Amino acid sequence: SALSSKCISDHHLLLRRGFASEASPDRKVTVLGAAGGIGQPLALLMKLNPLVSRLALYDIAGTPGVAADVSHINTRSEVAGYVGEEQLGQALEGSDVVIIPAGVPRKPGMTRDDLFNINAGIVKSLSAAIAKYCPNALVNMISNPVNSTVPIAAEVFKKAGTYDERKLFGVTTLDVVRAKTFYAGKAKAPVAEVNVPVVGGHAGVTILPLFSQATPKANLPEDEIKALTKRTQDGGTEVVEAKAGKGSATLSMAYAGAIFADACLKGLNGVPDVIECSFVQSTVTDLPFFASKVRLGKNGVEEVLGLGPLSEYEKQGLESLIPELKASIEKGIKFANQS
Ligand code: NAI
Repeated sequence: SALSSKCISDHHLLLRRGFASEASPDRKVTVLGAAGGIGQPLALLMKLNPLVSRLALYDIAGTPGVAADVSHINTRSEVAGYVGEEQLGQALEGSDVVIIPAGVPRKPGMTRDDLFNINAGIVKSLSAAIAKYCPNALVNMISNPVNSTVPIAAEVFKKAGTYDERKLFGVTTLDVVRAKTFYAGKAKAPVAEVNVPVVGGHAGVTILPLFSQATPKANLPEDEIKALTKRTQDGGTEVVEAKAGKGSATLSMAYAGAIFADACLKGLNGVPDVIECSFVQSTVTDLPFFASKVRLGKNGVEEVLGLGPLSEYEKQGLESLIPELKASIEKGIKFANQS
């Protein structure tokens, strides 16, 4: 038993040093839109993730440079760059997780829905390629408007006969990241210990942070909760305005995207109790898609968790977000089924 405990501690040491490739299964992650503002730092963060064994970087331009650059980092994954539609199939083949930050970002004065006309078409064609080349992959949708792009992908997968509702995720992690940061500041709590669920969707009032469930508890007054809620809902716009025409959140988004993809990989690898908020097919409300906490596992979503107890203010927020979220979902479904 002394010997076996030494083996165990040596094993842990190896894992901590990063030589985990034998213990951790092969996993291919593909980033679509990898040369963009989000795609580049996301490629960097995924290259640092020891759970990734192959990293495929795809874009319509610029990926050979990004791939060459990132590939020199001495971490586990092998990196390959793919450029142009004729290489999309190769980029996708064998993927366990596909992350999609492809599409145009907002400029000051724009809503996420203003991006619909361009991004809906991009997401539709990328989803068709996923259905063809890696129908079993977990899809992490970052491209906005997420409230519509997720339903578009679902419709494309349904038509292709590959739809598995457990494997399609709208990435709302940045809303959670923001809610945690803003709450920690007001609650004077250590930010690394803070948890805040964020539910609903990913645009304006459809983003509903549940500060009544935030931990550590802080009992903040109602006006501060309202201000925190508003700041979380407008967090993206805060960045768009500060960047003054140069785009939207890229670095914090890459961080959030890397956190969410890591959770997906852990779930696939059988790590227990992996829970993140995400915009998924749902029966939590009457809407077909809704963001809430989900438990991730070997097949993607293992369980969509409920909302838990809401404050009066949150109940009102939930009621008032439904019409906008419903319209955005329907807009996506309609787009996918027309052209
Ligand atoms: P960007 O313009 O810097 O990069 C987008 C990349 O997508 C470009 O490299 C472009 O070449 C590529 N692209 C365009 N069409 C493509 C196609 N058909 N296939 C593959 N790649 C294609 O934009 P950025 O800042 O990286 O934002 C990307 C998207 O992420 C936007 O839609 C933005 O609204 C969204 N976003 C989502 C957030 C979220 O919380 N879910 C937060 C921030 C941004």
